[in-house]
Amino acid sequence: MSTHALRRATTSMPIPPLAGGTTGPAALRPLIDTVLTALHDGARRRDGPLPAGGPDTVTPQLRTALRPVIPDQGTGAHHALTTLIGALTEGAADPADPLCAAHLHTPPLALAAAADLAASALNPSMDSWDQAPAASALEADLTTALAAEVYPHRTAPDALVTTGGTEANQLALLLARERHGPVQTVSGANAHHSITRAAWLLGLPAPLTIPAPTGVMDLTALDDTLTRLHERPGGTPVLVTATAGTTDTGQIDPLAEIAALCATHGAELHIDAAYGGPLLFSPTHRNKVHGLDRAHSVTLDLHKLGWQPASAGILAVPHHHHLDALHHHAPYLNADDDTEAGLPDLLGRSLRTTRRPDALKIAVTLQALGRTGLADLIDRTCAAAHQLADLVIKTPAIDLYDHPTISTVLFRPTDATDHTIATIRRTLLTRGHAVLGRTRANGRLWLKATLLNPHTTPHDLRELLDLVTHLATEISENTEISDTAETTEGSTPR
Ligand SMILES: Cc1ncc(COP(=O)(O)O)c(C=O)c1O
Repeated sequence: MSTHALRRATTSMPIPPLAGGTTGPAALRPLIDTVLTALHDGARRRDGPLPAGGPDTVTPQLRTALRPVIPDQGTGAHHALTTLIGALTEGAADPADPLCAAHLHTPPLALAAAADLAASALNPSMDSWDQAPAASALEADLTTALAAEVYPHRTAPDALVTTGGTEANQLALLLARERHGPVQTVSGANAHHSITRAAWLLGLPAPLTIPAPTGVMDLTALDDTLTRLHERPGGTPVLVTATAGTTDTGQIDPLAEIAALCATHGAELHIDAAYGGPLLFSPTHRNKVHGLDRAHSVTLDLHKLGWQPASAGILAVPHHHHLDALHHHAPYLNADDDTEAGLPDLLGRSLRTTRRPDALKIAVTLQALGRTGLADLIDRTCAAAHQLADLVIKTPAIDLYDHPTISTVLFRPTDATDHTIATIRRTLLTRGHAVLGRTRANGRLWLKATLLNPHTTPHDLRELLDLVTHLATEISENTEISDTAETTEGSTPR
């Protein structure tokens, strides 16, 4: 294009409206209407928990909508929104469908998603007060309140907003390293993989692994390991990481006993309560995380048992001074004279710079539901898991691994080989019938349902089990299906 033609094209082209200001809402309204229609129509076309056909079908369908990725002439907002959101929705694994229950993949509450829209429209960035005057005050109050839930008896607990459990665990190891130098982490065989990765990222020794033969950390083995480390000449600084709600089975390590062992051996404790932490809000289930407040840091994820759209992670510490190591100076964001004049210094609240106001949707949810509303969602979800376990027990052809601690239920058709379990899971995916996870426990492969949908009914659970039993029969009669399965890998935590 010549310079002249380019100038003509750019000057005649309308500038797309912005989302903020007084004119933003009027510009957004028709676009949101288009988005909502596309979401509705796409879900209707999918008509199930995920699209049928596997990657060979889903990828070309998505590519048809996306081609060309960068056209010379744009197609316009409504067309682009309709086409891409429609295709994405049609091809989604939708946790709002009760048969989409593989992972700690939450169905977000409509009100939290609506609040997230405001976060996108206003776009406060949480790295300096002049980009987020009210949002930074909201985040400060929310994190103080959440930290007080975890550490009710501490005078000045604090918390950071993170992108999730992975980042919160990384920060926990980083803070321990900054307190003590190269700490030796000790974690259960049931720990989330992000602990090992965090140690690797931070240049720490690889974690020592404590066996978890029953799904939770073995206390005798932990005691032995801590004794050995304690006796090392020079004294190695140790950080034990325990899990409250394991990825594979949803079990909770014996937190109070682990805290007591740590105190005896002079070790610090981090608790990864990414999954189980929100049980604190439920008077019925709170006792399961007793001992959480004895940790030097606690990870929580409200995009799991808190029904937030990703991301909504939290790292809580018992005193705000524990976060001092994160202080960082970048004069364009936190000039000393600005800080002295009273502008809050936000840079030490994260390792990130530009940062979304994820606190908004969490705060809106807590305000809207209150403690009782959140507790009700938690209780319903845990109750659904118990209903599923009861149904499994009553179904002669299916074995239950154990009664759920939170909302994870492992089951397998009686006498099925691991090969058959893998095939059942993948066939359900390929047919678009259900999304179930898989986990290795007691030396065998199990189907895993991680229930997070508070709308799940006994009818849904029955349907899920019927799908599995019918498929187990079909596979045993049809070797062609089972020949496509692999059986060697274990579980793949998210
Ligand atoms: C116990 C546990 N910790 C940490 C994580 C990581 O959380 P995120 O995916 O939010 O980073 C998970 C994810 O499922 C988890 O189950």
